Amino acid sequence: MNLVPMADILNDANQRGYAVGGFNINNLEFLQGIINAAEELNSPLILQASEGAISYMGIEYVMAMVEAAVSDTHIPVALHLDHGSSFEKTMLCIRKGFSSVMIDASKKSFSENVEITKKVVEAAHAVGVTVEAELGKVGGTEDDVTVDEKDATMTKPAEAVEFVEKTGVDALAIAIGTAHGVYKGDPELDFARLETIKSKLDMPIVLHGASGVSAKDLAKAVKLGINKVNVNTDFQQVFTAKIRELFKADADLYDPRKYCGPGRDAITEKVKEKIMILGSNDKA
Ligand code: 13P
Repeated sequence: MNLVPMADILNDANQRGYAVGGFNINNLEFLQGIINAAEELNSPLILQASEGAISYMGIEYVMAMVEAAVSDTHIPVALHLDHGSSFEKTMLCIRKGFSSVMIDASKKSFSENVEITKKVVEAAHAVGVTVEAELGKVGGTEDDVTVDEKDATMTKPAEAVEFVEKTGVDALAIAIGTAHGVYKGDPELDFARLETIKSKLDMPIVLHGASGVSAKDLAKAVKLGINKVNVNTDFQQVFTAKIRELFKADADLYDPRKYCGPGRDAITEKVKEKIMILGSNDKA
Protein backbone atom coordinates (compact mmCIF):
# COMPACT_ATOMS: atom_id res chain seq x y z
CA MET A 1 0.00 0.00 0.00
CA ASN A 2 1.10 3.60 -0.67
CA LEU A 3 0.96 6.40 1.87
CA VAL A 4 -2.50 7.99 2.04
CA PRO A 5 -3.33 11.66 2.71
CA MET A 6 -3.95 12.16 6.44
CA ALA A 7 -7.34 13.77 5.61
CA ASP A 8 -8.65 10.41 4.30
CA ILE A 9 -7.88 8.81 7.67
CA LEU A 10 -9.13 11.71 9.80
CA ASN A 11 -12.35 12.40 7.91
CA ASP A 12 -13.44 8.82 8.54
CA ALA A 13 -12.49 9.17 12.21
CA ASN A 14 -14.55 12.37 12.43
CA GLN A 15 -17.57 10.79 10.75
CA ARG A 16 -17.48 7.64 12.85
CA GLY A 17 -16.43 9.24 16.16
CA TYR A 18 -13.05 7.75 16.97
CA ALA A 19 -9.45 9.01 17.01
CA VAL A 20 -6.25 7.88 15.29
CA GLY A 21 -2.84 8.08 16.92
CA GLY A 22 -0.33 10.55 15.56
CA PHE A 23 2.55 8.43 16.79
CA ASN A 24 6.07 9.91 16.64
CA ILE A 25 8.97 7.98 15.18
CA ASN A 26 12.50 8.58 16.44
CA ASN A 27 14.37 5.65 14.92
CA LEU A 28 13.86 2.28 13.21
CA GLU A 29 12.64 0.55 16.38
CA PHE A 30 9.93 3.17 16.93
CA LEU A 31 8.72 2.75 13.35
CA GLN A 32 8.60 -1.04 13.57
CA GLY A 33 7.16 -1.07 17.09
CA ILE A 34 4.35 1.28 16.08
CA ILE A 35 3.40 -0.30 12.76
CA ASN A 36 3.42 -3.81 14.27
CA ALA A 37 0.82 -2.70 16.82
CA ALA A 38 -1.40 -0.97 14.25
CA GLU A 39 -1.31 -4.01 11.96
CA GLU A 40 -2.13 -6.39 14.78
CA LEU A 41 -5.17 -4.31 15.78
CA ASN A 42 -6.18 -3.47 12.20
CA SER A 43 -5.96 0.26 12.86
CA PRO A 44 -5.29 3.15 10.48
CA LEU A 45 -2.07 4.91 11.41
CA ILE A 46 -0.47 8.34 11.30
CA LEU A 47 3.30 8.11 11.55
CA GLN A 48 4.77 11.49 12.36
CA ALA A 49 8.27 12.88 12.58
CA SER A 50 9.29 16.15 14.20
CA GLU A 51 11.96 18.33 12.60
CA GLY A 52 14.35 17.20 15.35
CA ALA A 53 13.66 13.53 14.62
CA ILE A 54 14.06 14.14 10.88
CA SER A 55 17.45 15.76 11.35
CA TYR A 56 18.46 12.92 13.70
CA MET A 57 17.50 10.17 11.20
CA GLY A 58 18.06 12.08 7.93
CA ILE A 59 15.06 12.70 5.69
CA GLU A 60 16.16 10.14 3.07
CA TYR A 61 16.30 7.45 5.75
CA VAL A 62 12.88 8.46 7.04
CA MET A 63 11.39 8.07 3.56
CA ALA A 64 13.18 4.80 2.81
CA MET A 65 12.24 3.23 6.16
CA VAL A 66 8.61 4.34 5.97
CA GLU A 67 8.28 3.22 2.35
CA ALA A 68 9.66 -0.19 3.32
CA ALA A 69 7.23 -0.37 6.25
CA VAL A 70 4.14 0.46 4.18
CA SER A 71 5.09 -1.59 1.11
CA ASP A 72 3.57 -4.78 2.49
CA THR A 73 0.97 -3.48 4.92
CA HIS A 74 -2.80 -3.68 4.54
CA ILE A 75 -3.58 -0.74 6.85
CA PRO A 76 -3.85 2.89 5.64
CA VAL A 77 -0.79 4.87 6.76
CA ALA A 78 -0.10 8.62 6.49
CA LEU A 79 3.34 10.16 6.97
CA HIS A 80 3.06 13.53 8.69
CA LEU A 81 5.51 16.32 9.55
CA ASP A 82 4.96 17.20 13.23
CA HIS A 83 5.34 20.91 14.12
CA GLY A 84 6.70 22.22 10.81
CA SER A 85 8.31 25.55 11.65
CA SER A 86 8.32 27.25 8.22
CA PHE A 87 6.82 27.21 4.73
CA GLU A 88 10.17 25.96 3.38
CA LYS A 89 10.38 23.00 5.78
CA THR A 90 6.83 21.88 4.96
CA MET A 91 7.58 22.10 1.23
CA LEU A 92 10.74 20.03 1.61
CA CYS A 93 8.76 17.25 3.29
CA ILE A 94 6.06 17.37 0.61
CA ARG A 95 8.69 17.15 -2.14
CA LYS A 96 10.22 14.10 -0.42
CA GLY A 97 6.84 12.33 -0.26
CA PHE A 98 5.16 13.11 3.08
CA SER A 99 1.38 12.81 2.71
CA SER A 100 0.65 15.40 5.40
CA VAL A 101 2.32 18.37 7.11
CA MET A 102 1.71 20.46 10.17
CA ILE A 103 2.55 24.13 9.95
CA ASP A 104 2.90 25.39 13.50
CA ALA A 105 2.80 29.17 13.57
CA SER A 106 0.88 29.17 16.86
CA LYS A 107 3.54 31.27 18.56
CA LYS A 108 3.02 34.08 16.05
CA SER A 109 0.12 36.56 16.03
CA PHE A 110 -3.31 35.37 14.85
CA SER A 111 -3.00 37.19 11.51
CA GLU A 112 0.54 35.88 10.86
CA ASN A 113 -0.61 32.35 11.75
CA VAL A 114 -3.48 32.73 9.25
CA GLU A 115 -1.17 34.07 6.55
CA ILE A 116 1.50 31.36 6.74
CA THR A 117 -1.03 28.52 7.22
CA LYS A 118 -3.04 29.68 4.19
CA LYS A 119 0.11 29.71 2.07
CA VAL A 120 1.00 26.14 3.11
CA VAL A 121 -2.60 24.96 2.54
CA GLU A 122 -2.66 26.36 -1.01
CA ALA A 123 0.59 24.67 -1.97
CA ALA A 124 -0.12 21.37 -0.17
CA HIS A 125 -3.66 20.99 -1.49
CA ALA A 126 -2.41 21.49 -5.06
CA VAL A 127 -0.61 18.14 -4.70
CA GLY A 128 -3.16 16.32 -2.51
CA VAL A 129 -1.30 16.71 0.79
CA THR A 130 -3.13 17.31 4.08
CA VAL A 131 -2.40 20.26 6.40
CA GLU A 132 -2.72 20.52 10.18
CA ALA A 133 -2.25 23.82 12.00
CA GLU A 134 -2.39 24.92 15.63
CA LEU A 135 -4.32 27.69 17.31
CA GLY A 136 -3.67 28.58 20.94
CA LYS A 137 -0.35 27.59 22.51
CA VAL A 138 0.26 24.08 23.85
CA GLY A 139 2.74 24.24 26.75
CA GLY A 140 5.72 22.02 27.54
CA THR A 141 8.81 20.91 25.61
CA GLU A 142 8.85 19.43 22.11
CA ASP A 143 12.33 18.78 20.68
CA ASP A 144 14.26 21.87 21.81
CA VAL A 145 11.28 24.23 21.90
CA THR A 146 9.76 25.03 25.29
CA VAL A 147 6.56 26.95 25.96
CA ASP A 148 6.32 28.03 29.61
CA GLU A 149 3.11 27.28 31.48
CA LYS A 150 2.46 31.03 31.78
CA ASP A 151 2.76 31.47 27.99
CA ALA A 152 0.49 28.55 27.12
CA THR A 153 -2.92 29.86 26.04
CA MET A 154 -6.15 28.00 25.43
CA THR A 155 -7.81 28.10 22.00
CA LYS A 156 -10.68 30.58 21.71
CA PRO A 157 -13.69 28.98 19.96
CA ALA A 158 -14.66 32.05 17.88
CA GLU A 159 -11.05 32.47 16.71
CA ALA A 160 -10.92 28.78 15.77
CA VAL A 161 -13.91 29.23 13.44
CA GLU A 162 -12.39 32.32 11.84
CA PHE A 163 -9.01 30.59 11.49
CA VAL A 164 -10.46 27.56 9.69
CA GLU A 165 -12.60 29.74 7.39
CA LYS A 166 -9.63 31.90 6.45
CA THR A 167 -7.05 29.12 5.98
CA GLY A 168 -8.98 26.08 4.70
CA VAL A 169 -6.87 23.86 6.95
CA ASP A 170 -7.84 20.14 7.15
CA ALA A 171 -7.18 19.46 10.84
CA LEU A 172 -6.90 21.86 13.77
CA ALA A 173 -4.74 21.30 16.85
CA ILE A 174 -6.24 23.06 19.85
CA ALA A 175 -4.89 23.95 23.27
CA ILE A 176 -7.20 22.69 26.04
CA GLY A 177 -4.74 22.10 28.87
CA THR A 178 -2.35 19.39 27.68
CA ALA A 179 1.41 19.97 27.35
CA HIS A 180 4.26 18.27 25.49
CA GLY A 181 6.69 16.11 27.47
CA VAL A 182 6.50 14.89 31.07
CA TYR A 183 3.79 16.40 33.33
CA LYS A 184 4.69 17.72 36.76
CA GLY A 185 1.15 17.22 38.13
CA ASP A 186 -1.99 15.72 36.61
CA PRO A 187 -3.09 17.59 33.48
CA GLU A 188 -6.50 19.22 33.68
CA LEU A 189 -8.33 19.23 30.38
CA ASP A 190 -10.91 21.90 29.56
CA PHE A 191 -13.56 19.56 28.16
CA ALA A 192 -16.21 22.29 27.94
CA ARG A 193 -13.92 24.26 25.62
CA LEU A 194 -13.43 21.20 23.43
CA GLU A 195 -17.18 20.62 23.27
CA THR A 196 -17.84 24.23 22.23
CA ILE A 197 -15.13 24.17 19.56
CA LYS A 198 -16.38 20.88 18.12
CA SER A 199 -19.99 22.15 18.05
CA LYS A 200 -18.81 25.04 15.86
CA LEU A 201 -16.38 23.05 13.71
CA ASP A 202 -17.40 19.69 12.24
CA MET A 203 -13.86 18.74 11.25
CA PRO A 204 -10.91 16.71 12.59
CA ILE A 205 -9.62 18.20 15.85
CA VAL A 206 -6.16 17.29 17.17
CA LEU A 207 -4.86 16.83 20.73
CA HIS A 208 -1.12 17.31 21.28
CA GLY A 209 0.82 16.29 24.37
CA ALA A 210 -1.25 13.18 25.08
CA SER A 211 1.48 11.27 26.96
CA GLY A 212 0.66 11.11 30.65
CA VAL A 213 -3.04 11.91 30.10
CA SER A 214 -5.16 9.24 31.80
CA ALA A 215 -7.03 6.67 29.72
CA LYS A 216 -10.29 8.03 31.11
CA ASP A 217 -9.54 11.60 30.04
CA LEU A 218 -8.29 10.51 26.63
CA ALA A 219 -11.43 8.47 26.01
CA LYS A 220 -13.57 11.44 27.09
CA ALA A 221 -11.68 13.78 24.75
CA VAL A 222 -12.29 11.36 21.88
CA LYS A 223 -15.98 11.14 22.75
CA LEU A 224 -16.21 14.93 22.67
CA GLY A 225 -14.62 15.22 19.24
CA ILE A 226 -10.86 14.70 19.21
CA ASN A 227 -9.86 12.69 16.11
CA LYS A 228 -6.05 12.70 16.26
CA VAL A 229 -4.06 12.12 19.43
CA ASN A 230 -0.31 12.85 19.40
CA VAL A 231 1.94 10.62 21.50
CA ASN A 232 5.72 10.65 21.72
CA THR A 233 7.01 10.82 25.32
CA ASP A 234 5.12 7.71 26.51
CA PHE A 235 6.87 5.62 23.83
CA GLN A 236 10.27 7.16 24.56
CA GLN A 237 9.78 6.29 28.22
CA VAL A 238 8.78 2.65 27.73
CA PHE A 239 11.58 2.08 25.21
CA THR A 240 14.20 3.52 27.57
CA ALA A 241 12.76 1.86 30.68
CA LYS A 242 12.99 -1.55 29.01
CA ILE A 243 16.61 -0.96 28.01
CA ARG A 244 17.46 0.30 31.51
CA GLU A 245 15.88 -2.81 33.02
CA LEU A 246 17.91 -5.09 30.76
CA PHE A 247 21.18 -3.32 31.56
CA LYS A 248 20.39 -3.50 35.24
CA ALA A 249 19.87 -7.24 34.96
CA ASP A 250 23.01 -7.74 32.87
CA ALA A 251 25.64 -5.00 32.94
CA ASP A 252 27.70 -6.86 30.30
CA LEU A 253 24.99 -6.67 27.66
CA TYR A 254 26.52 -5.33 24.45
CA ASP A 255 24.51 -6.56 21.44
CA PRO A 256 22.05 -3.75 20.53
CA ARG A 257 19.63 -6.28 19.05
CA LYS A 258 19.25 -7.78 22.51
CA TYR A 259 18.07 -4.51 24.09
CA CYS A 260 16.66 -2.48 21.19
CA GLY A 261 14.50 -5.46 20.13
CA PRO A 262 12.77 -5.72 23.54
CA GLY A 263 12.54 -1.89 23.58
CA ARG A 264 10.72 -2.06 20.25
CA ASP A 265 8.32 -4.70 21.62
CA ALA A 266 7.62 -2.52 24.67
CA ILE A 267 6.60 0.27 22.26
CA THR A 268 4.26 -2.14 20.46
CA GLU A 269 2.47 -2.96 23.72
CA LYS A 270 2.09 0.74 24.61
CA VAL A 271 0.81 1.61 21.13
CA LYS A 272 -1.77 -1.19 21.36
CA GLU A 273 -2.97 0.28 24.65
CA LYS A 274 -3.41 3.72 23.04
CA ILE A 275 -5.19 2.33 19.97
CA MET A 276 -7.76 0.59 22.19
CA ILE A 277 -8.39 3.82 24.12
CA LEU A 278 -8.77 5.85 20.93
CA GLY A 279 -11.07 3.26 19.35
CA SER A 280 -9.23 3.01 16.03
CA ASN A 281 -8.91 -0.78 16.26
CA ASP A 282 -10.65 -2.57 13.37
CA LYS A 283 -11.19 0.70 11.48
CA ALA A 284 -8.53 0.06 8.81
P1 13P B 1 4.02 14.06 24.03
O1 13P B 1 5.48 13.87 23.80
O2 13P B 1 3.71 14.80 25.27
O3 13P B 1 3.28 12.77 23.89
O4 13P B 1 3.48 14.99 22.85
C1 13P B 1 3.60 14.56 21.53
C2 13P B 1 3.08 15.58 20.60
O5 13P B 1 2.15 16.30 20.87
C3 13P B 1 3.73 15.69 19.29
O6 13P B 1 3.24 16.73 18.54
